[in-house]
Amino acid sequence: MVSKSSLEAEVAIRNMHNPPVLRSLHIDRFHAEPAIFRAPGRVNLIGEHTDYAEGFVMPAAINFATLAGISPRTDGKIVIYSENFGEEMVFDAAALPRIRTRHWSDYPMGVVHVLAGEGHAIPGFSLSLWGDVPLGSGLSSSASVEVATALAVESLIGANDPGPVLARLCQRAENEFVGASCGIMDQFISVNGKEDHALLLDCRDLSFRLAPIPDHVALVIANTMVKHSVAGGDYTTRRAEVEDATRVLARHRPEIRFLRDATLADLDQWGHEMAPKSRMRARHIISENLRTVAAADALMRGDMAELGRLMAEAHRSYSQDFEASCVEADTMVDLAQDLPGLIGARLTGGGFGGCTINLVEQKDADAFAAALGGRYAAQIGIVPEIYVCHAAGGAGRLDQA
Ligand code: GLA
Repeated sequence: MVSKSSLEAEVAIRNMHNPPVLRSLHIDRFHAEPAIFRAPGRVNLIGEHTDYAEGFVMPAAINFATLAGISPRTDGKIVIYSENFGEEMVFDAAALPRIRTRHWSDYPMGVVHVLAGEGHAIPGFSLSLWGDVPLGSGLSSSASVEVATALAVESLIGANDPGPVLARLCQRAENEFVGASCGIMDQFISVNGKEDHALLLDCRDLSFRLAPIPDHVALVIANTMVKHSVAGGDYTTRRAEVEDATRVLARHRPEIRFLRDATLADLDQWGHEMAPKSRMRARHIISENLRTVAAADALMRGDMAELGRLMAEAHRSYSQDFEASCVEADTMVDLAQDLPGLIGARLTGGGFGGCTINLVEQKDADAFAAALGGRYAAQIGIVPEIYVCHAAGGAGRLDQA
């Protein structure tokens, strides 16, 4: 048995990476000055699997991001280099791939594919990518790659889509090219995040309200190290179960197009006509929409106790009704409960692994992170990564990187 203190020492607590020198990396490789764009990952405070049901979500952009450097080429090629994968891919701008290859380059090429489909002429270019959003951890590394790429390519072709249009375009890259049936949340917050704020998004009309996160509150993100993928089967199965439930309710009330339109009373009345699993999924979505709006109200009025209570309820619902948690994530949430400074903890993102979000009093954040990491390592036998983050601004061009 490893002692608790040695495990605590091992737990990687990452506050922020030093941005790499993307500019010199690009110049060394491509001999051209790049324009550089940054797009953040995100953490969702509450509102899970509600985006594709046209409901509410409340994410914040975080201080982990993808950087994309772009410069034009004259040989008609699209050359994409990923510093994270240490690999370069070459495409022909005049003969773009039409289908995915299940490779990291699907994400940037999905964006190019959608832009071309919108009627833009795509010239040759060199693109360098680097990111510090942990991959496959439910912190939207994919969306950050898509948004950084979209900004970079749009700047090259002289397009300038407004934020919501850019977010939709990136979502389509993922739905239509990568083949992941994600909603709009990740791309939207990567584009529109605001420093020190969470964003309550109405996924029906993309209207939003910003809720300030008080200075005394830290976002402590705990990575279970269990990989999650939106392109994986579980996410898609859940989405299908939600759509099943919607169809049953729509037979009785045709105005229910998405679960956003349904109430718990509808479910009480007609839930018995659904497969039991669909009924449970619907209960999660309908109640989660109510909790998410209530959580935004609580955050706006600074009622952290109520916000924490709603997060705990949301985790229970996500774990028990939506069955999207796993032993590791439930353990990470349980182990946080009696640590000093905790406001609320839950599994964040698409589910089945990934990270928990812990809202923690800032003064306790470092001790909380060390203790949680040590406890998790001792219980599960995996050393987690813990990120003490803050809410960051949305995507944009960088003057220097
Ligand atoms: C993933 C998807 C989002 C959303 C969440 C679950 O992050 O990309 O669209 O559905 O899962 O809330």
